[in-house]
Amino acid sequence: MQHYKTSLHDEAATQALGKSLALCLQPGLVIYLNGDLGAGKTALTRAILQAAGHQGNVKSPTYTLAEPYQIQLKDRIIKFMHFDLYRMISADEFIEAGFRDEFNAETICIIEWPEKAEGLLPRADLEVFIDILAVGREVKLQANSEKGNACLTQLHFAPNL
Ligand SMILES: Nc1ncnc2c1ncn2[C@@H]1O[C@H](COP(=O)(O)OP(=O)(O)OP(=O)(O)O)[C@@H](O)[C@H]1O
Ligand SMILES: [Mg+2]
Repeated sequence: MQHYKTSLHDEAATQALGKSLALCLQPGLVIYLNGDLGAGKTALTRAILQAAGHQGNVKSPTYTLAEPYQIQLKDRIIKFMHFDLYRMISADEFIEAGFRDEFNAETICIIEWPEKAEGLLPRADLEVFIDILAVGREVKLQANSEKGNACLTQLHFAPNL
């Protein structure tokens, strides 16, 4: 399986990575975002959404746990769910909100704090690990499925673009 590692010197580099990732998304992709508080998980999600044509705000869905978006992938409009499970208290909360149905072949799901819902979430096609450095961030992308692998194969990222 493919993996990819790079450093992101500043927030502009995080935005550039989001833009590159937006170009290799496909329906049904499940992406886990791993990293400490303030690592840049929401910043990366925002960059992906904006690059994929979303024009409004992208806030962290801290209390609602999830926020739905519509994005444009080539000539299709696709549902994109942004989860932030940091404040999830119980499995019931996840199940009663109907979140399990969001994991389907048509919807892209990106999840901050996936470890809070261990055993409830499907496996990730792609995992993102963000580490906070003295200056900037280090990011690792790991494919865990053929779908994730196809995404990373298509990824073209030049941090200084
Ligand atoms: N490559 C980078 N270098 C330095 N700072 C960055 C970089 N990318 C993003 N940031 C900054 O890091 C912060 C990231 O905040 P963000 O809310 O995205 O973190 P998060 O991982 O979603 O945290 P939380 O777990 O609380 O949801 C922002 O202030 C953003 O400007
Ligand atoms: Mg966040």
